[in-house]
Amino acid sequence: MKREKWWKDKVIYQIYPKSFNDSNDDGIGDLKGIIEKIDYLKGLGVDILWLSPCFKSPFADQGYDISDYYEIDPQFGSIEDMERLIEEAKKRDMYILLDLVVNHCSDEHEWFKQACEDPDGRYGKYFYIRDRLSDGKVPTNWRSYFGGSVWSELPGHPDKVYFHAFHEKQPDLNWENPEVRTEIYKMICWWLEKGIAGFRIDAIRNIRKPKVFENYTPDGEDGLCSIDRMIENAQDIGEFLKEMRRETFDKYDAFTVAEVSGDVTDELDAYVGENGYFSSIFDFREIELSFRDGETGRKQDITAEEYKQACFISQREFAKCGTAVNVIENHDGPRGVNRFIKEGEVCLESKKMLGALNYFMKGIPCIYQGQELGMENLKFKSPEEFKDISDKFRFENAISQGYDEKRAVELTAKMSRDNGRMPMAWNDSMYGGFSHVKPWMTVIDNYDELNVQTEAEDSNSVLNFYKRMAELRNNPVYKKCFIDGEFIPKWRLKQNLMAYIRKANREIMIIGNYKNSPDRVVLEAPYTAILLNNYEDDPNDKINIDLKPYQLLVMEV
Ligand code: NOJ
Repeated sequence: MKREKWWKDKVIYQIYPKSFNDSNDDGIGDLKGIIEKIDYLKGLGVDILWLSPCFKSPFADQGYDISDYYEIDPQFGSIEDMERLIEEAKKRDMYILLDLVVNHCSDEHEWFKQACEDPDGRYGKYFYIRDRLSDGKVPTNWRSYFGGSVWSELPGHPDKVYFHAFHEKQPDLNWENPEVRTEIYKMICWWLEKGIAGFRIDAIRNIRKPKVFENYTPDGEDGLCSIDRMIENAQDIGEFLKEMRRETFDKYDAFTVAEVSGDVTDELDAYVGENGYFSSIFDFREIELSFRDGETGRKQDITAEEYKQACFISQREFAKCGTAVNVIENHDGPRGVNRFIKEGEVCLESKKMLGALNYFMKGIPCIYQGQELGMENLKFKSPEEFKDISDKFRFENAISQGYDEKRAVELTAKMSRDNGRMPMAWNDSMYGGFSHVKPWMTVIDNYDELNVQTEAEDSNSVLNFYKRMAELRNNPVYKKCFIDGEFIPKWRLKQNLMAYIRKANREIMIIGNYKNSPDRVVLEAPYTAILLNNYEDDPNDKINIDLKPYQLLVMEV
C-alpha cells in the first residue's frame, strides 16, 4: 500500500519531559509544563513534538523502563493531561509522538512480577528465562549495554536467569511469543486511537534474538562480548516489523521514526523504502563516529571532515529509498556543539553553522530541547551529579581501573548522557525558570545568559537564528526546494568546509566554513540572494566569496 507522507515537510522537536518545564514545583518537569510552553514551540516553527517516555515507571533508566504502558507516571501528570496536550497540539496543527519502548519493559511491570511467581506459566513466556547451566553459569557471554552480563538471576529462582539487553530492571520481552506481540499491538492502537500522530521507536533492532544462544569470542577483560554480535546474528527482524506496521501504524496513517543502531545501509530500503517498516529512521552515522573505537577506547573528537563525509554518505543512501530524520544530539549523549565542534571553538557562529548545516539537509530536522538555545555540556564537578544509570556504571568502572575521583568524573563527563538532560532554561531567574524549587538535576551554569527569554530579546541569539531557519524552510518560495530538492555535495574535497546544493525548482547553496579561520570559495555564477547568514555583513563579492571563521551562508544561486 502506498502511504501518504503527510509528515515529510515537518520539523520534529524532542522533549525530555523530566527536564522541560515544571508546572507544580516539585523539581520535575511535567505534561502541564509542556502545555504551558506549547506556543513557544509553535513559534519555533516545529510541528511534531516527540516526548521521551512519560509512562508509569520506576525510572531506573529515566522512564525507558515502563511498568504500565496505559498510565502516565504521576510525576508527569495524568491521562487527562495527556489528552489535553494532544488537543492543544491539534488546535495548533501540531502533532504528538510518544516513545514506544517495547524491546523491554520494567521488572516492576505486572507481566514480569507474574513471570517471577511462575516462570513456567503464561507470563514466564513473555520473557527470555533460562535455566542456569549445570556449572551455575549463565547461557551466554553477552555484555549488556550498560555493562555486565545480559543475564541476571530471576528473583526467587536461584537456578534461573532472565535476559536484559539494557539494565537488569529492563527485562527483554519475548517477541517470539505471539501473545506478547498481540498485547503490544493492542497498546499501540490504544494510544493511536487517543489521537497521537505516531511514535519514536526505541531500540528496535534488539527485539529479534539469534535462534541459538551461544558464546561469542570475548572482546574485553570481563570475558564478555559486545551485544552487537548478538544483533548481527539475529535473522529476519522484518517478519515482526512488517506485522507491527500492518497491525498498527498503517491503520492510522501514523508517522514512525525508529532508533536503529549500527550500520543498516544495506537494509535501508527495508526500513524506510516505499514499503518500509517505518516512515523514517534517525541518521546516527555522524553520532556513531564517537563509538567507532569500541566500548572502552571511545574516540571522542570528530573532525569537520569526518562529520561532512558521514553526512554526505547518509544523504546519498537515503536518497535511494526514503526519509532520514537528521539530528545532532538527543538525550543519550553530549550536546551536538560539543561533539561536532572543536573544544575551545564552540561559539555563537559555530553553533549556528552546525545547526544550519544539519537543518537544511534533505530529510526531517529533529531539534533536541535546548539545542535551539545553544546549550552546551554540563561541567560536572562531582560523581553525585551523574543521575544516569550508564554514567554511574562508567564512573565506577573508571574508579575500578585505578583513576582517581577527579579524573573518573572527567572521563565520564565528556560522553555523559546527562549532558543533554539538564533542565531547560526559560529565563534568568533562579533555576533558569524551570522550577521554583531545586530541580532533580543540575542546572547549567550560565542560564542567566543562555535562556529563552534573554535570547528571544537578542536578535543575534542562537534562538532567533533557529527561528529564521524555520521561516526560511517554510517560505513558500523555497519550501519545495528544501523539502523535495535533490542534495548535491559541493567542493567535497575542500578541507574543513561543508557545502551542498538543494536543487528543485530553484537552487539553494548552503556553505559552512567549518573552522576557526577564513576561507574563500569561488562560485560559477554570481549568487542571486543571501537567504541566511550567521554574520551581519553579506559578502562583498557575488562570485568570490570570502568566508569568515565558522561562517554559514544560505544563498540562492
Ligand atoms: C535508547 C534510549 O534512547 C535510551 O535512553 C535508553 O536507555 C535505551 N534505548 C533503552 O531503552
